[in-house]
Amino acid sequence: MDDDQQQRKTSSPATSLPPVSVAAQPQPSTASVPAKGPLISRRVFLVGALGASALLTVASVAGSGGILGPLFPPKEPPTVIAKATDLESKYQAAVSSSDVYTALGDPSNTKEYFSQFFYWPYTISDSPYYKNIVVRLPDDNLGVQLTDRSTVYTAPTGGRFVAYNTTCVHLQCLVNPGFAGTPGSGQFRLQCPCHGSQYNLADGVPVAGPAYDLGLLPLPKVELSIDASGNITATNIQGQIGVGRTSQ
Ligand code: FES
Repeated sequence: MDDDQQQRKTSSPATSLPPVSVAAQPQPSTASVPAKGPLISRRVFLVGALGASALLTVASVAGSGGILGPLFPPKEPPTVIAKATDLESKYQAAVSSSDVYTALGDPSNTKEYFSQFFYWPYTISDSPYYKNIVVRLPDDNLGVQLTDRSTVYTAPTGGRFVAYNTTCVHLQCLVNPGFAGTPGSGQFRLQCPCHGSQYNLADGVPVAGPAYDLGLLPLPKVELSIDASGNITATNIQGQIGVGRTSQ
């Protein structure tokens, strides 16, 4: 026996071990392990997402009846917001006491304060920006010269009235009524405490401050109806709160 024959003899596997067939070897079971893959197909996911999006869109415009109803409180219907006869008598009292130039801008003057704030068509808890003001306009001889009367409402019980949303169209502070100038030569205006914008009381058009300098829009107008008993009803808001109106 040469060296090669001797080496082959010593390195050959032991003949006592049985041959193992490949078929007999234990194989990992595939029956009990689910095949890996996406939990849902991309198509099913896209269909579901589109359905949810459509549902939210419908719900958002469905008002109080929708699932988002609490986020979109219903608008109040036309509402009586003041009595023309009350504001008229306060105005006449201010005229007879020669107080008309200061009474308008002095909320503490409850006796002669011939304007009135009101929240409509949303409450203050819904939004502080739906704060509006209705004013008994001072007569022409007291500083309100009307070039355009389309914004003014005449009450059957006497007096002319206007109403605006008070959100300044510059940066959304709330304006107050006041008088600018000297009695007899000034103007009644709505004045912003933040940066000094002023709006003509007769039509809500900016006449001073950044709202004027930037050429911004007039204040949104609250449309009114006034009945024979002097009830002033807010019926609509013309324009966008904080932005202004594009029509008279
Ligand atoms: S917010 Fe009214 S003038 Fe700036």
